[in-house]
Amino acid sequence: METIIKTEDLHFSYPAVEGTTPVVLDGVDLEIQEGSFVAVLGHNGCGKSTLAKHMNAILLPSGGTVWVDGINTADEDRLLDVRRTVGMVFQNPDNQIVANVVEEDVAFAPENLGVPPAEIRQRVDDALKAVNMYQFREHAPHLLSGGQKQRVAIAGVIAMRPRCIVLDEPTAMLDPIGRKDVLRTIKTLNRERGVTVVLITHHMDEAAQAGRLIVMSKGRVVADGTPKEVFSQVEELHQVGLTVPHTTQLLWELRQEGFDVPLDALSDEECAQALYNLLQARGA
Ligand SMILES: Nc1ncnc2c1ncn2[C@@H]1O[C@H](COP(=O)(O)OP(=O)(O)OP(=O)(O)O)[C@@H](O)[C@H]1O
Ligand SMILES: [Mg+2]
Repeated sequence: METIIKTEDLHFSYPAVEGTTPVVLDGVDLEIQEGSFVAVLGHNGCGKSTLAKHMNAILLPSGGTVWVDGINTADEDRLLDVRRTVGMVFQNPDNQIVANVVEEDVAFAPENLGVPPAEIRQRVDDALKAVNMYQFREHAPHLLSGGQKQRVAIAGVIAMRPRCIVLDEPTAMLDPIGRKDVLRTIKTLNRERGVTVVLITHHMDEAAQAGRLIVMSKGRVVADGTPKEVFSQVEELHQVGLTVPHTTQLLWELRQEGFDVPLDALSDEECAQALYNLLQARGA
């Protein structure tokens, strides 16, 4: 598979605050493959948003390099190409909605990119269908639920036809139903359209659905693998201030007590099966 985003020894510090310049990214080496679904987890302030902002040149490295589709993000002449390749979705949908009608909002970015009007119409309809909001195209965004607004914001990014979308805690402000709808939308974009997804989240259950999970701590990558592999490293995750999903935690505690259960039974079903197998083996 082709690499779409690559960070090489990425270092970053924000401009000096009261004479100190804390290192926020401290040597991040990552390769994100085109078409993959990658989740990023980490404690508050570990640098997730800062890393995300490097993926479409909102921030530029203090040291090292970021490549987007082979383009150095520090190359000013290619900024538009970088921004067309990687779209960003943020936490608060209210800050991302700019128009008074849903379809106008989705049309905003492609209009600014100079896409011809006939093609805009098609892109807007297509993007709204992709996030399952087409039936709301003539509605007022401010009357929609949080989850619906966030899906409109995602449509606005999709209308630019990016090959990758980076979502920085897109469900943090949503109720459980909105969270589920947004996550389903993200997964559909990845599976059915092959859009590369980088999802920054605090929710274990969302991270567990990705194909690859990256854990950050203090500006570094401290774990990287499939969710099953990463969540199995229970002690390491505890050390960086993270909990693990309830399923893994339960199995880990059973293992501490000497029971022979696998740590990678991540879904509720797999965990239930592991407990069933344990009881069977003990003749219960
Ligand atoms: N604009 C800024 N100026 C100075 N320092 C900043 C700025 N933005 C973030 N920081 C600091 O950089 C560090 C990393 O912040 P960042 O927002 O990347 O973390 P995060 O992992 O996204 O956290 P959270 O989980 O709270 O969203 C923190 O110590 C934060 O205080
Ligand atoms: Mg953040």
